Amino acid sequence: MKAIVIDQYGSKEELKERDVPKPVPQEGEVLIEMHAASINPIDWKLREGHLKGMLPFQFPIILGWDAAGIISEAGANVTKFNAGDRVFVRPETTAQGTYAEYIVTQEHLLAKIPDNISFEEAAAVPLAGLTAYQCLVDFAQLKPRDKVLIHAGSGGVGSLGIQIAKSLGYYVATTASSKNEEFLKSLGANLVIKYDQQDFEQELKDYDLVVDTMGGEIQIKSFHVLKKGGTLVSIVQPPDEKKAEEMGIHAKFHWLVPNGNQLKELADLMEEGKLKPIIGSVFDFSEQGLREAHALSESHHAKGKIVIKIK
Ligand SMILES: NC(=O)c1ccc[n+]([C@@H]2O[C@H](COP(=O)([O-])OP(=O)(O)OC[C@H]3O[C@@H](n4cnc5c(N)ncnc54)[C@H](OP(=O)(O)O)[C@@H]3O)[C@@H](O)[C@H]2O)c1
Repeated sequence: MKAIVIDQYGSKEELKERDVPKPVPQEGEVLIEMHAASINPIDWKLREGHLKGMLPFQFPIILGWDAAGIISEAGANVTKFNAGDRVFVRPETTAQGTYAEYIVTQEHLLAKIPDNISFEEAAAVPLAGLTAYQCLVDFAQLKPRDKVLIHAGSGGVGSLGIQIAKSLGYYVATTASSKNEEFLKSLGANLVIKYDQQDFEQELKDYDLVVDTMGGEIQIKSFHVLKKGGTLVSIVQPPDEKKAEEMGIHAKFHWLVPNGNQLKELADLMEEGKLKPIIGSVFDFSEQGLREAHALSESHHAKGKIVIKIK
């Protein structure tokens, strides 16, 4: 089968088309014929070698950890899904990623794609959507109308996070450049802080939760918009938990945990029209397509999600 692999860490020129063996599903696994994948910043961070300590993979590595497709074969003891099902998944983080014509993954990580959602839309959701969902639900006991700040609202995690937070009834503030203000209001954001014109630290106070997608100075300033007892969850950089304690707030780092049950919750939101995947760009499943997709993600200014159309 065709896959796009890297044989060493380096620039996007390392992305190479290769014929590799089609994987075989083991017990509890399914083989998925891939229709679409999507790009996340972890793809190029891993490609550049920044994650080699945490994820010491052998080469060649197939990058990509979002998948949407059709089950073509179910392994032994697969009970809830069948060949022919349209499914999407955030597979485990292994060196056999989703820039491939086929993947195998465990049944318990899968969810069915709603009929009103295309493969491209479905592929845009698992990694970024589960990350946003877990940050919004797993770290703080929020109630409707509680105030949430989601940084980088126009990115992959942010554009899904705003909609998930609104579906939970929260008041949502977000940060983006001014060109994206109307876009983020259309997603349901109550307040858009334009980082090229405003300082969010001056504009916001008494927030219940901050989802930190930026780190650095933005993370440090975010401590000051939380109310006492509020929570900051960072997905980019471990926060200073000691300083947080001194300030009477909670601060945690989160690394997404793949979860089929939570993905089903997101599928239900999509089916109900409450969660619309935002596809900013679609690229071909080719060396050139993947290189262009990585370049866009590396710009830090991609809008919504970057999708790879495989079939
Ligand atoms: N720990 C985990 O499990 C986990 C999971 C998912 C993602 N992540 C990490 O979380 C980060 C965000 O991921 P993502 O997929 O959402 O990235 P992304 O889609 O590449 O984010 C791009 C967005 O960032 C916005 N942005 C850039 N500079 C900004 C600033 N100073 N203030 C506010 N927004 C700004 C851009 O909006 P403008 O064009 O308007 O500037 C753009 O729309 C990445 O570092 C990723 O690696 C971690």
